[in-house]
Amino acid sequence: MTSIGYNEEDDVIGKAYDSELVGRLLQYIRPYSWRMALAILLLVLVTALTLVQPLLVQQAIDRDVANGTTDDMWWISALYLVVLVLLFVFTYAESLLLVQVSQRVMNDMRLELFRHLQRMSISFYDANPVGRLVTRLTNDIVALDQLLTAGALTILRDVCMIVGVAILLFVIDWKLALITLAMMPVLAFLMRWFAIAMRNAFRRQRLHTARMNAFAAEHISGMLLIQMFGRQKTDLVEFDENSGALQAANMSVVHQFAAFEPVVAMVSAITTGVIIVVGGQFVLDTELTIGQFVAFLTLVGMYYNPVREIADRFNILQSAMAALERIFTLLDEPEGVKDSAEAVDLPEKIAGQVDFENVRFAYTPGTWVLKGVSFRIAPGERVAFVGATGAGKTSLINLLLRFYDIQEGAIRLDGVNIATAKQHQVRRHIGLVLQDPFIFTGTIEENIRLRDESITTEQVRQAARLVGADRFINQLPDGYQHKLVERGANLSTGQKQLLAFARSVAFDPEVMLVLDEATANIDSETEALIQDSLERLTAKRTSIIIAHRLATVRGCDRIIVLNHGEIVEQGTHDELLALRGRYFKLWLLQQRDVPAEVVAPASGELAPG
Ligand code: CTP
Ligand code: MG
Repeated sequence: MTSIGYNEEDDVIGKAYDSELVGRLLQYIRPYSWRMALAILLLVLVTALTLVQPLLVQQAIDRDVANGTTDDMWWISALYLVVLVLLFVFTYAESLLLVQVSQRVMNDMRLELFRHLQRMSISFYDANPVGRLVTRLTNDIVALDQLLTAGALTILRDVCMIVGVAILLFVIDWKLALITLAMMPVLAFLMRWFAIAMRNAFRRQRLHTARMNAFAAEHISGMLLIQMFGRQKTDLVEFDENSGALQAANMSVVHQFAAFEPVVAMVSAITTGVIIVVGGQFVLDTELTIGQFVAFLTLVGMYYNPVREIADRFNILQSAMAALERIFTLLDEPEGVKDSAEAVDLPEKIAGQVDFENVRFAYTPGTWVLKGVSFRIAPGERVAFVGATGAGKTSLINLLLRFYDIQEGAIRLDGVNIATAKQHQVRRHIGLVLQDPFIFTGTIEENIRLRDESITTEQVRQAARLVGADRFINQLPDGYQHKLVERGANLSTGQKQLLAFARSVAFDPEVMLVLDEATANIDSETEALIQDSLERLTAKRTSIIIAHRLATVRGCDRIIVLNHGEIVEQGTHDELLALRGRYFKLWLLQQRDVPAEVVAPASGELAPG
């Protein structure tokens, strides 16, 4: 399974135009193509109307002002008014259309990204920090909006403007136009130089922003440890370095802008000066009317604005292209375990028999994590897996849930190979109780039901009663409607655990998987309560229990000992002890830190004979 590792250099910008990326983006715009086409048409009209304005002024001067009359003033003013109204209407409509298209494209893309993320394998999430993925969904999508609304079309408008102005200049007076355009190479050179300088400055700015964000995110979430180990000072120093580098990068961006603007203004001023001298002479020679002269100067002014803007737009394009590339890279990331076309249906209810037949599995080719594991768990049987850390217990669970596909052998649920069954149906029959139960923002009831409408309120309560979670829930002021915050920070570890149990019971799966390793950090009373809930949770249900503490598993029907991906022993607690093998050794090791009353077989002991 390949995964792209995101790192801070992701946020560095590159090309301003990439035809492949743009081609893909066009696919997203296609559904809204008539809107887009209309927006472009309006944009051209707006440019044309803008250019008409100085021409109207020219008419007013030449027909009336120059002759000291007001005969034509009324229709010129009226026309000017019409132009202004049209400009308003067209500009409004154009912006509206463009924003509509952009928002819809953004929405489509966000949905596609989220759907894609939902299908990614769990190993993908091992390799990709959540923060980066959230950035794809938020900032990068926003960069796209900028591309559509501020970048691409504005550049088109600027180009239209430059071409339109140039044509009009030639129409008015080709000699003056040539003089104006003679400044073009100087301008082109300046723009190119500026664009490169800007790109480097922006690149540094992005890099340091990304670095600072990554550092802040990691060190804020790890604040507990930072404070524990008293690392605040060293952290602050490092943060200061990042922050300082960002400041320098920001300043250099501002510096470039500050230098470019006056330089363009100067070129523009020189051009204007030349035109006033030469044009003024033309007017004196009556080769040019005063109106034409004024119109020409106004148009030259209009000419420099888009030039200034284009250089700026260039940066928007660059960062948008980079964002687009990151989005598409993520979308191209292969999705996790997928159903084949001929995937079969599992029955609505199953008995709950689990078979592993010679299962061989590796996360990375060559390093076998499970090396030919075979066992059968009969319906209703409770089986525990124990073994040293890294033996492959969690992997086994991941495989049964089909978070990964195995390389050899077969895993069967009621005789059906899960690799050929529909994935969501496999998971529907299997409940999972995690060692670190996840709590979502919402009420207790919502957390038990997980928005599954088929689970009634009564079932939610029953489930909570069965696992003994009702005791603490009823003590809360608003009971089942009690609001939980993100990750259940306002619950104790034991309460979270009980809630997770209730959730698993509410879904009533035929097979229950329990990863019970978190009970170490709760008090013994709660622990007894949880132990008791676990018994009820797994009673009369095929159960696979993974526990580090052997005291938790001694009541199971069977205990399977894994070692380096192989089954080395199996039997009941007593049988395994009698074997005096690996389990016995583990048992001896643990007796030292287990309270005496757990070790000594007390009355009412669960262990079967
Ligand atoms: N492993 C891996 N890639 C993963 C998860 C695990 O390569 N994404 C490897 C581990 O390095 C380990 C082996 O797979 O060598 C088995 O891991 P696991 O099944 O998680 O071991 P457990 O028996 O669950 O260990 P523990 O008791 O510590 O939970
Ligand atoms: Mg594990």
